Amino acid sequence: MTLINERELPLVPYEGMNLVHKRELEILNRLYTALKEEKDDSEIDRLLDEFLRDVEEHFSYEEDLMRKAHFFAYECHHGEHNRVREELRSVKERWEKNRDREELRKYFEEVFKPWISEHILTMDTVTAQWLMRVMGGIGAL
Ligand SMILES: [Fe+2]
Ligand SMILES: [Fe+2]
Repeated sequence: MTLINERELPLVPYEGMNLVHKRELEILNRLYTALKEEKDDSEIDRLLDEFLRDVEEHFSYEEDLMRKAHFFAYECHHGEHNRVREELRSVKERWEKNRDREELRKYFEEVFKPWISEHILTMDTVTAQWLMRVMGGIGAL
């Protein structure tokens, strides 16, 4: 029971970002499986926290690269990450208040899943292209 298959995840030209995306996918799929298998709330809490920490690392990693490479659309990409940070904060709050598995599952299926693919195909791809051009590729940053 995976939410997103590895082959469904778009690849970008900067390898470090692909690795970060792949790690996030694994954590997200574990969380999604736990939701589907009706695991205890404490298990969902633990995996949700792990996922949220990973998202923060993912976004900070990209923002750090963008700043180092003086990416031209930093504000735009950073702003979109901030919007999702806010969204996830409220998803977590609602989960803690209502313990509604259906609502949490639906959020991942209907909102987060399409968002991540779209985001990788657009902002992350443009960022990765810039990194490859400006820094000369893998290992340069
Ligand atoms: Fe990303
Ligand atoms: Fe991003």
